[in-house]
This record gives sequence, C-alpha cells and structure tokens, in this order.
Amino acid sequence: MTKKLLLCCGVIASLLLGAQAHAQKFDQLAKTPQLGWNSWNTFGCNVDENMIREMADAMVTTGMKDAGYQYINVDDCWHGERDKNGFIQADKKHFPSGMKALADYVHAKGLKIGIYSDAGNTTCAGRPGSRGHEYQDAITYASWGIDYVKYDWCDTKDINPVSAYSTMRDALHKAGRPILFSICEWGDNKPWDWAKDVGHSWRTTGDIYPCWNCEHNHGSWSSWGVLPILDKQAGLRKFAGPGHWNDMDMMEVGNGMTEDEDRAHFSLWAMMASPLIAGNDLRSMSEATKKILTNKDMLAINQDKLGVQAMKWIDDGDIEIYVKPLEKGEFAFLFLNRDDVARDYTLDWAFHYMKDDISKHEIFFDQKKFNWRDIWNTAKGSTAEKYTTKIPAHGVVVLRLTPQ
Ligand code: GLA
Repeated sequence: MTKKLLLCCGVIASLLLGAQAHAQKFDQLAKTPQLGWNSWNTFGCNVDENMIREMADAMVTTGMKDAGYQYINVDDCWHGERDKNGFIQADKKHFPSGMKALADYVHAKGLKIGIYSDAGNTTCAGRPGSRGHEYQDAITYASWGIDYVKYDWCDTKDINPVSAYSTMRDALHKAGRPILFSICEWGDNKPWDWAKDVGHSWRTTGDIYPCWNCEHNHGSWSSWGVLPILDKQAGLRKFAGPGHWNDMDMMEVGNGMTEDEDRAHFSLWAMMASPLIAGNDLRSMSEATKKILTNKDMLAINQDKLGVQAMKWIDDGDIEIYVKPLEKGEFAFLFLNRDDVARDYTLDWAFHYMKDDISKHEIFFDQKKFNWRDIWNTAKGSTAEKYTTKIPAHGVVVLRLTPQ
C-alpha cells in the first residue's frame, strides 16, 4: 500500500471511530418520563429572565418540586443574534444577565434548566435556528449549564430528519454535559421508528390547544385538543420505554378547560407515560390546578419504573378503559368518559380478561383478585365485586390495583 493510501485509510477509520464514539445519546437520562414546566403554552414569545426566575421560585413554593417536577424550560424567543464568530447569544433586552446567570439561579433552587432550538435555519418564531451551528450551539449550551434541549422542526424544507436530529444528538454528546434531548418534529417523520437512540422523547403530534375535543385552525396549521391528541397515539405504545418516550406535548392544565377536563388531561398524559411538562403560569395557579398537577398517586403512575405506556383495553363508545401495567404486578385503570354528560358505568371484573403483549401480563379476573383504590378520592374496594362508578362529563376515574 502506498503511503498516501495508508494515510487516507487512517483518516477514514478515525473519522468513523470518531463518529461512533459520539453517535450516542446520554443514556442515563429520562429513565422515567421527564417532569417540568415550559414557557410556550402561556407566554409564547413573551419570555424574560425575571419571569423565568419567578417560575423557578414558584416551582419550589407551590410544592411542584417536592412532587417531582425538575425542569424549567425556556421555549422559543430567548435568542438574540449570533456574534461575529457565529456563537448564539441571548436576547440582551429580555435576558440582560445572560443564560449562564439564569441557569445558575435555577440550579441554586435545586432545579434544572432547559432551552429551545430548531433544526432549521430559523425557529418557528423566526429566531436563529441551529442548522450549520449544531456543535457550536451544543458547546454554548453546555457552557451555560443547560440540562435539556427541545429541538424543533420549523424551516427545515429538504433536510433529512434522522441526520438532522442525530447531528444535534452527537453535538450534545461531544459537548460532554448530560443534556436531555427532546425531539419536536410533531410526528411528521414517524420518529418512533428511528429516534429511540437519538432523543429521550419525541413529540407525536402537532401542537396542543386547551380544549377537550377540538381542532383549532391557525391558517396554515392546526392545533389539537385532549381527545384528538389521545387518539393520535394509537399504535405507538410499543415504541415507548425507559429513556425514550412518546411526548403528547406540554400540558394545558390550568389554561382554561374545566376542572374535570384538566384532571382527565393530566391523568391521560400520566397513563400514557408522556413527559409531564406543565404549561400554565405557576405563580398564579388556582388551588384546584395545583392539586391536579401535584397529585402524587397520579405522578407515581407516570413515573413507575416499569416504563410501560397504557393500552386501550376496552372501547365502549364514549367510555374507554385504559390500563397501565406497573411494577410488582400492580395496574392503573383509567375510565374515560368522552361524552358531554356524566355517565354511570359498571364493570363486572369476573367476566373480564386482560392480555398485554408488552408487559406479558395475562389476567383472568375471575381467578386473580385485586384490591383497588381510587386515586382522585378515597374510595376503596376489590375486584371480587362488580365495580360501579359515575364518570363526570369529559372526565376520568382512575383506580390503582394491587394483587391480593
Ligand atoms: C412549535 C412547537 C411548539 C413551540 C413553538 C415555538 O410550534 O411545536 O411546541 O415550541 O414551535 O415557536
């Protein structure tokens, strides 16, 4: 072999090895779905450092942090211009102290901080995207102390999604600071098929809107209420698991739906092992909203280490029953009433059978008995007896079953 050829092979081999060394995500993150808060649903582009600081304060004082919420995420519009060397800077008017100072503040509260960027040239709100600056941006985020990156899909035209998201994953890994990577390409390119080793979660749909069963038209795009987003999860549960979750979008709890709708929305997202990212103003939320978001039993169901997303077990028209297998042979059962009026419902366990191909459970309820407790009130019972309940309009009842 000539010297030139050897050199060439060496370069190719080291490029390949180099690529391999960084072709991974931080695999110790999001072993259970991430819990946090994000600015977008309430504030849109009206973000500034004081508001974010106050939100971190409120995360602590409201008990959200104690309940397990961790991330304070700044969505779109924190960006200023790139400097002459191409490094991104925060918008000086709204973030005069800079992102490092903000991250220090959030960390001092015992919380983590997230930031937002986009795989294209510009973000959805027209700020600088990361295309062509991935490594530079990843280094910058790491140097600021960022813990979470939500990476959007606007202005991407002909870009290949797998390579765009893999490039940012590699850049974050190379930068060396463990950063949770939240893929936000709205399910357009079926991320469940390719993103398991790329990100820690992937959005499965377009944007959420605070309504029960609507499609909200914005002209060139639509956003969706609770039921349409739920229904778009059909067939996706097998792709979720520890470190890689189906993301049903940030929550709208406290943003205008009824209390029953909010409770149903939160419970469904928890059952589906979706990341639970609050999207309301934590500083001014009502007691009812706080009670929903900090329900420890519902959060425990979402955070169960088995990491199995709920399946739709029974589809009885407006009433549907979802089941989430939990550790130690326990189960969460959610009764959903999609209807506009409250509905009485009876389930005679003894006549039912449940099989789950993912957790490999097969239960004959006439043979195996469970105790149950209602996690939104104090009711208790056993599957030895018929279960009768009233499910509120646009509401849920959730039971936790423990083997007898
Ligand atoms: C997209 C995302 C939203 C939000 C906005 C910001 O629409 O899906 O979650 O991040 O961009 O511009």
